[in-house]
Amino acid sequence: MPEILSVSKIIRNRRTVKPAVMDPHLEVPRELIDELFENANWAPTHGFTEPWRFKVFAGDARRELALKLQELYTGHTAEGEFREDKLKKLGRNPLLAPLVIAICMRRGDNPKIPVTEEVEAVACAVQNMHLTASAAGLGAFWSSPPILDTGGMRDFLGLREMDCCLGLFYLGWLKEGENWPVSSRQPVEEKVEWIVADGAGD
Ligand SMILES: Cc1cc2nc3c(=O)[nH]c(=O)nc-3n(C[C@H](O)[C@H](O)[C@H](O)COP(=O)(O)O)c2cc1C
Repeated sequence: MPEILSVSKIIRNRRTVKPAVMDPHLEVPRELIDELFENANWAPTHGFTEPWRFKVFAGDARRELALKLQELYTGHTAEGEFREDKLKKLGRNPLLAPLVIAICMRRGDNPKIPVTEEVEAVACAVQNMHLTASAAGLGAFWSSPPILDTGGMRDFLGLREMDCCLGLFYLGWLKEGENWPVSSRQPVEEKVEWIVADGAGD
């Protein structure tokens, strides 16, 4: 039971921490990053396709990422929907976090595994990373702007046509004076239905 309590605590304390409250200058130790990836690598995977791939942007590479995001947003947004504030945010966010990880799905070559299951496995891997980060007090944010699902982004990341980028995972310590965010959920009872056949089987 003590182990369950600590797992529950980590799960419920996992929070989305936005880049705006991260300190870009506080380094994330390499051992911690490696631990995040090791835990990601233990996600469940149908057929052992292990479709999660991570591309880490650090240092000046974050600037290249920011420029690419802005270029894609400008090129893929209809005139009426274009927002200057969104463009600015895409250019700023990667520089506010010390690390930005492109969350990628590499489609396996087993056609019996549906692509949705590959995506689901990647999401499990990200959750493992996010829980590990939270347990260490490290902030993380899964961002998924629609421009990630473009040929331009795939090319930038060296992905094939059948692969995809599912998000950008921002990592960083909270700036001094910032607090760990709070969140809430609707009661789980509203989302669970028990189906019990009367008298069946006994
Ligand atoms: C697949 C996925 C994509 C997400 N994309 C975004 C996003 O693009 N922008 C955003 O503000 N939050 C995004 N989030 C984070 C949610 O906003 C966040 O999980 C939610 O607000 C609940 O907060 P919590 O994670 O602290 O519990 C995403 C989360 C998931 C799982």
